[in-house]
Amino acid sequence: MGTLGQAWSNSGPEAGLPLTVGPTGVPINQATRKLALDRIREFNGTNDVYKWKIVLQFYVHLQCQCLFLSFGHGIYWQAILTAATDTTTSTLIWALALMLNNKQVMKKAQEEIDINIGKERQVEEPDMKNLVYLQAVIKETLRLYPPVPLWLPHESTEECTVGGYRIPKGTRLLLNLSKIHRDPQAWLDPSEFQPERFLTSDKEIDVRGQNYELNPFGSGRRMCPGISLGLQVLQLTLASLIHGFEFARPLNQPIDVTECFGLTNLKATPPEVLLTPRLSPGLYGTN
Ligand code: HEM
Repeated sequence: MGTLGQAWSNSGPEAGLPLTVGPTGVPINQATRKLALDRIREFNGTNDVYKWKIVLQFYVHLQCQCLFLSFGHGIYWQAILTAATDTTTSTLIWALALMLNNKQVMKKAQEEIDINIGKERQVEEPDMKNLVYLQAVIKETLRLYPPVPLWLPHESTEECTVGGYRIPKGTRLLLNLSKIHRDPQAWLDPSEFQPERFLTSDKEIDVRGQNYELNPFGSGRRMCPGISLGLQVLQLTLASLIHGFEFARPLNQPIDVTECFGLTNLKATPPEVLLTPRLSPGLYGTN
């Protein structure tokens, strides 16, 4: 991000943001700028430097994507925004819902953060590599509730044979990820939320498109280009939330896990939670 420094603004809601050039020195599109500023205004009034960092990163990645996709075409922007926000938000909500229904997982993830970070400072990006249990929680959430359960539609570019079936050129393919991710031939207790599996029996299985039993980001040339940003944002946000707050269910009722029908796998009902701060008061930016 060093190359952005030359054009940073020093004041107002845009403080610290590049004004005229992007990471590659290309002029920034007005739409990009407005998108980023809208996100920043949401965070106005907070001193949380890490939230700001996420917004900035989001902005830089959008800018990079824009260079590859048709520059200035609003329809692509909409596609990227939907691809980036719905997926990340729904995964975070499912992760919290699953942890609220499995309190021992929440406790273990919080303990890991407390041991590595303590309670006197906030979680930072470099801490992520040490939070292996948290990473397993995210993988297990993506397995049970993949945000794009049918991928995007694909089409065969040439005739081929799969499992003895002839697939003509031009056949539309929709992948049933929910089924694959809960296949009893591939997974032990497939419907159980067990992040530990990714530290023991399934520790070699990753989400980056090389293990076909777990493929939340797609695979091959059209796989999700936002995978690294997505994982980074998921880890940092989830870690910050469960480090900063105790989560409890009102009336101790289990959280409903009904899914919505759609391109993105959203939770049908918003989870209701009770939050209690668990760090030193000075870390919440209220002083
Ligand atoms: C939890 C986070 C995310 C998940 C699980 C996810 C998953 C996916 C999946 C399954 C696809 C379709 C792949 C295929 O059909 O082969 C996809 C496509 C895409 N994703 Fe993501 N995504 C996430 C975050 C993001 C983020 C943060 C961005 C952008 C910053 C992004 C941008 C895109 C774009 C532009 C495409 C279309 C690629 C193409 O058609 O070539 N995604 N994503």
